[in-house]
Amino acid sequence: MIIKLIGLLTLSALHVVAAVTWSATPFNPASVPLAVRSPYLSAWLDQGAGTALNANWPHFWTGSILGWAGYVKVDGTTYNFLGAPSVPATTVQKAVQKSLTFTSTQSTFVMTAGPVDLTVNFLSPVEPTDLVKQSLPFSYFVLSAAPNDGKSHSVQVYSDISAEWVSGDDSLTVNWTTTTGSVVTHQVQLEQQTLFGEVSDRIQQGSAFYSTPSVTGLTYQTGQDEVVRAQFINSGKLLNTQDTQFRAVSDDWPVFALSHDLGTISTATPPVVISIGHVRDPAVQYIIANGALQNRSLYFWSQFSSVQDAISSFLGDYSNALSRAQTFDSKVQTDASAISADYASIVALSVRQAFGATEITVSKTTSGSFDTSDIMMFMKGKYLLLPLFEYQATGQYPNKWSFNLLDQWTQFLISDSLIPANQISTDDFAGSLANQTNLAIKGIVGIKAMSVIASLAGQAAKSSNYSSISASYVTQWQKFATSSTGKHLTLSVNIPRKLLDTLILINFTMNGNSTEMIPGMSLVQSGHCDNAYFPSWGLSYNMFADKLLGTNVFPQSVYDMHWEIWTSAIVSSNTVRDLFITAVRNYAADGKSSQPLGDWYETADGSVEGFRARPVVGGHLALLALQTQPSATTEPNVSAANVTAPTIAGPSSNSAPGMRRWGL
Ligand SMILES: *[C@@H]1O[C@H](CO)[C@@H](O)[C@H](O)[C@H]1NC(C)=O
Ligand SMILES: *[C@@H]1O[C@H](CO)[C@@H](O)[C@H](O)[C@H]1NC(C)=O
Ligand SMILES: *[C@@H]1O[C@H](CO)[C@@H](O)[C@H](O)[C@H]1NC(C)=O
Ligand SMILES: *[C@@H]1O[C@H](CO)[C@@H](O)[C@H](O)[C@H]1NC(C)=O
Ligand SMILES: *[C@@H]1O[C@H](CO)[C@@H](O)[C@H](O)[C@H]1NC(C)=O
Ligand SMILES: *[C@@H]1O[C@H](CO)[C@@H](O)[C@H](O)[C@H]1NC(C)=O
Ligand SMILES: *[C@@H]1O[C@H](CO)[C@@H](O)[C@H](O)[C@H]1NC(C)=O
Ligand SMILES: *[C@@H]1O[C@H](CO)[C@@H](O)[C@H](O)[C@H]1NC(C)=O
Repeated sequence: MIIKLIGLLTLSALHVVAAVTWSATPFNPASVPLAVRSPYLSAWLDQGAGTALNANWPHFWTGSILGWAGYVKVDGTTYNFLGAPSVPATTVQKAVQKSLTFTSTQSTFVMTAGPVDLTVNFLSPVEPTDLVKQSLPFSYFVLSAAPNDGKSHSVQVYSDISAEWVSGDDSLTVNWTTTTGSVVTHQVQLEQQTLFGEVSDRIQQGSAFYSTPSVTGLTYQTGQDEVVRAQFINSGKLLNTQDTQFRAVSDDWPVFALSHDLGTISTATPPVVISIGHVRDPAVQYIIANGALQNRSLYFWSQFSSVQDAISSFLGDYSNALSRAQTFDSKVQTDASAISADYASIVALSVRQAFGATEITVSKTTSGSFDTSDIMMFMKGKYLLLPLFEYQATGQYPNKWSFNLLDQWTQFLISDSLIPANQISTDDFAGSLANQTNLAIKGIVGIKAMSVIASLAGQAAKSSNYSSISASYVTQWQKFATSSTGKHLTLSVNIPRKLLDTLILINFTMNGNSTEMIPGMSLVQSGHCDNAYFPSWGLSYNMFADKLLGTNVFPQSVYDMHWEIWTSAIVSSNTVRDLFITAVRNYAADGKSSQPLGDWYETADGSVEGFRARPVVGGHLALLALQTQPSATTEPNVSAANVTAPTIAGPSSNSAPGMRRWGL
């Protein structure tokens, strides 16, 4: 009995289960994306062990507060459904969160306000095939009310944003204007703008916009937070007035409010559509030849002459945008579910975070018009790589390992990849290292990739030369990298372990004891690897590139060996992939963090080390990328893996702290 009790206590200590009272689909993430469209439009609801939409303020990705408040008034009773405002001398109830659902582009909350359920939908479009739409730094905030008792009710909704959306320093002075017409827009900005300047990762340039189409029942107001909110709480409508006493963000907290009187409702109301955005121009300063500077604008400027036009178009496009988002969400869900439901949930949480850290830009010609042939995205991919190549081509990049020509780069790989020199890699938290086998893999795949490019460019001799060099490197590499038993890869010293691009760790505690690898438990707790203590082997996730590109330089036997390592660590191979994926999902849902999905965490207990909201979570789409890769080799058949007793041997000490993990 006592033993059982201890067991239970241990389990509950390992699982900090969120005491949430709402249904969460697919799960309650560490932080819920609300408006996540660009590095400077990035609003989240931090969760921890479970935080309702009205239990805290939304936060910027760094964790600083973004004032965003919402009330719904039902038959004269006011309920707070968004943010954590407090207004003296008023009576307000808290709406009760009934559910949270997230998909790749949407986070939806149902908040019960007495006899009415308010559906609060945050839609951050992801439009990879439309550069104009993808580059619009706006998100939708959509409200719809429905009686939950079959009766009719009088309903008014209210929301506001504070000036915290435009600065990292609340003591700075802001100014604002409200424009009316077919759309009502509140615009707020710093009075002293700093071009390309940041304070605490917040841009000190540009403006925030809070807008809605002019419809019957719409009222607006700007002014001190408590004053404007009390106005709605007391009367259910705003005064259509503007405060013109421009002041600091935190000086009597100016807010920018919109209210909609939905009238007496007996069924679900049509959506109240609001857009929130942050726009700056120019967006990026880019170094071109001879050290000259070039201003680059967000791509949408090539199609719109003013922000107002862009906002009108964005708001007018809502129903189509929703329909595209639903198609996109369901495509991602279907494709990722083919791997597993847990995988689909990790991907859904990662999509906005990955896209929301990028921006698509365009330059201007000498005549001042936009040069739409010159598109660059500031992060990865063709448009993403272009600025890197071009910059290096200017000759201003000081390091020899990145040349302007791919062929020159290949010469570097030929001379350095088999026995990589002491250098940092994406695992640079471990410091710089020599002989990183995982880097060797990447380099060898790179040489083969250049052989394919040379072939496409009609350079047959070069192609064949590079192809044979990569083949010969694979043979030599296998000698360096295979253990004396021939059963696994001895991946140099100091190689953190990863499964492809997913955040996966296994218990490599070296005695082959896998008793704690219980399905459903968080595998991220496992592993003993740190700067002070490294095993002599690991997962060579860079082989993903060989599979993705279909270069096929590594023989199947290496992949099989690879899988054997994973397999041996967890005894049963049948569900190995899903077990790893479930571990990541458990980490993402363990309630121990409140930050946008972090990719660096303690494997001993799943606590995050930082690295919040980074676009590297795009790597979670790795398995989807292989699905759509026609020439990729087949996935190793884990069902067919020979399940043997663990074969791994290593240092006897396992007293080192958990491994820290980040990056791709
Ligand atoms: C607000 O400040 C900006 C930046 O200094 C300035 O361009 C704009 O004219 C000001 N607007 C108002 C209404 O004062
Ligand atoms: C970039 O834009 C800023 C602000 O408009 C301007 O002051 C600056 O001269 C521009 N730089 C170039 C290189 O065009
Ligand atoms: C790296 O590998 C080479 C070739 O095997 C070896 O000579 C060198 O000592 C190794 N360096 C380190 C730091 O292990
Ligand atoms: C193959 O490429 C290497 C590296 O560029 C070069 O040194 C070698 O001469 C080439 N061999 C042939 C046959 O072209
Ligand atoms: C765990 O490993 C130890 C040492 O190798 C061994 O004695 C023990 O039987 C293992 N336990 C299980 C459950 O496999
Ligand atoms: C990993 O294995 C080691 C050695 O068997 C054990 O001490 C440790 O608790 C395990 N950790 C987890 C989280 O499974
Ligand atoms: C994988 O291996 C198992 C066991 O050998 C086999 O039954 C199954 O058909 C294989 N699957 C594929 C896709 O080859
Ligand atoms: C698994 O491997 C062992 C040892 O190499 C071998 O004896 C056995 O036949 C293999 N089993 C299967 C099903 O391949």
